[in-house]
Amino acid sequence: MGPEQVSLGPMNHEEGAAAGGEGAQADMLVFGAAELATPLGSAARGGKAMDALQVRTGWGVVIRDGEIMAVGDEEDLRRLFAPTLEYDAKGGTLVPGFVDAHTHPVFATTREDEFELRTKGATYLEISLAGGGILSTVRGVREGSSELLLAQLLQRLDRFLELGTTTVEAKSGYGLSTYDEIKMLTVIAEANRLHPVDLVATFLGAHEFPEEYRDRRPAYVDLLVEEMLPRIAAEGLAEYCDIFTESHVFGLEDSRRILTRAKDLGFRLRLHVDQLSPLGGAQLAAEFGADSADHLECVTTKGMEALGRAGVIPVLCPLVALYLRQADEVPGRRMIDMGLAPALATDFNPGSCYTQSMQEVFTWSALRLNMTAGEVLTAGTLNAAASLGRAQRIGTLEPGKRADLLVLDVPNHKHLCYELGRNPVRAVIKDGRVVHERRDFQHRR
Ligand code: NIG
Ligand code: FE
Repeated sequence: MGPEQVSLGPMNHEEGAAAGGEGAQADMLVFGAAELATPLGSAARGGKAMDALQVRTGWGVVIRDGEIMAVGDEEDLRRLFAPTLEYDAKGGTLVPGFVDAHTHPVFATTREDEFELRTKGATYLEISLAGGGILSTVRGVREGSSELLLAQLLQRLDRFLELGTTTVEAKSGYGLSTYDEIKMLTVIAEANRLHPVDLVATFLGAHEFPEEYRDRRPAYVDLLVEEMLPRIAAEGLAEYCDIFTESHVFGLEDSRRILTRAKDLGFRLRLHVDQLSPLGGAQLAAEFGADSADHLECVTTKGMEALGRAGVIPVLCPLVALYLRQADEVPGRRMIDMGLAPALATDFNPGSCYTQSMQEVFTWSALRLNMTAGEVLTAGTLNAAASLGRAQRIGTLEPGKRADLLVLDVPNHKHLCYELGRNPVRAVIKDGRVVHERRDFQHRR
């Protein structure tokens, strides 16, 4: 065995080999994969490094206590470890669990009529200004009970898992009152406790101006800054604060005020910016040292340069331009060529992107943004994890990381982009446990 064949951790290789010689105790060996494909590292990878996956045939994964203990040639792993359970990947492909870094998954009502209006030529902005859009979902959330919102969210988390997503960033932002925003965040916290999918909570009170503040917008900004942010910080209900920075909602001045307060209260920041117009939101994200700047369909070169200098991760949601029938496509290819490290996300929500599938995002990113299969996988795992401050724990198949991995029924990872509309996820292992298995793949144990 050479270190390049088996990577062991957290112990060093010599200790690992010695312990392994005795048949080191382990919970599970995942074997029988045609391919194992993963980015490597504990920080976002940009530029050319995004395409440099580790791709191996005949490799498996050893798991103990919910963590990856070793990744390497199956023969070596069998010699070194004595796993309680052997899990057969049956000629499929092993990849890290997907990380969806931008979603709005708590809502009670859907907006299929708006979708149809857009197919007839109405724009997202027109629908919003006429009182539809986000405000229509706000009405549903305010009327919905916590129990209803929780039950719906749990069903959606089942769906995320079936589609291979093991960590999901989840925003509030359809309550727009102190009570309803706290209601949403409490539902997110409860779902996180009850469901294997990991949720990262984001407060998005600055998503829109609620109806009752339409004629007195400054008072809503006061409410955000003086009441909502401090309450949510005190109750520890959100790790991140987000804002929809756009001229028809929160302009640069309002955004600065809200972000300054959020930062002072200890929130980490992620921002919806430069989605519908090039307002300079990317520069704003850089100025505030945000973890991520999301959307960016209309970002300028200066904006991208600012993100690069500040190390802000661009979180691209390419299906939104499709849903909104927007001519501007996010310049993902240019970002990578400039050395940036974009992440990919669904932006799952009932308005601008009603899908939970990272796989659809991958295919469209290949076809529309000209990204390679390697870049897409890095963007949907490691870089997305980095945008959530979690690249040390998730996003790759390496020793020391949480054991979040997928068994796909395809011969190699390139099929993730290649095939549109069928779900190749056979099994999902989350924190070292098999939490989902497709019916045609029930494992004999
Ligand atoms: O990310 N841009 C603003 N917010 C969401 C849309 C939410 C909605 O339309 O309900 C987005 O696209
Ligand atoms: Fe969004």
